[in-house]
Amino acid sequence: MEIISAEFVISNTDVHKCPESKLPEYAFIGRSNVGKSSLINMLTNRKALAMTSATPGKTMLINHFIVNKEWYLVDLPGYGFARRGKSGQDNIRTIIEDYILERENMTNLFLLIDSRLEPQKIDLEFMEWLGENGIPFSIIFTKADKVTSGKLKGSINQYLRKLREVWEELPPYFLSSSETRLGRPEILDYIDSINKGL
Ligand code: GTP
Ligand code: MG
Repeated sequence: MEIISAEFVISNTDVHKCPESKLPEYAFIGRSNVGKSSLINMLTNRKALAMTSATPGKTMLINHFIVNKEWYLVDLPGYGFARRGKSGQDNIRTIIEDYILERENMTNLFLLIDSRLEPQKIDLEFMEWLGENGIPFSIIFTKADKVTSGKLKGSINQYLRKLREVWEELPPYFLSSSETRLGRPEILDYIDSINKGL
């Protein structure tokens, strides 16, 4: 799929104030600093459409971007950032959960996982919560440029083995790098195929 236009629409904390929900929507979730906002910039060919930072906890709001005037990309705050404190984390968690449970046109959630890390409890539990609530999701293993291809294969296989312990069927998954643009055509084609099937 070609990206013709990508524009920021609105930021907010309340799912009910999000833009009219007539278009298909794809949201990005995962731990703080995993690379959600960078991936949105990479996919849309824009340097700073979504705000990124080397410090975790940058994205605090639900951010809507409209692509090709036909579908939305949504940048969400990350979870699991300990320095936010308990109440800060609970607040972000509520924003994320309300959005995921209540946004009717959220067609697919991309759950981002840092490809350098062993499977983390917080992500596995989050996936279980998605399953319990019947939320369609796919996995994107990020920052693939930071590991050798041999190591990458090993850690992805380890992750998939871990998932098979719980899931009968694995969700679709992708590898990405916002530096080398790895995964861009695959992720955009996947979105395109879902859009066309709607
Ligand atoms: P929060 O908004 O805090 O939840 O973080 P985020 O998931 O949006 O992460 P963000 O895109 O802001 O990226 C965090 C840091 O990781 C930044 O310093 C990025 O430059 C870096 N980063 C993101 N993706 C990649 C990648 O694919 N490769 C490399 N090498 N660095 C990346
Ligand atoms: Mg962000």
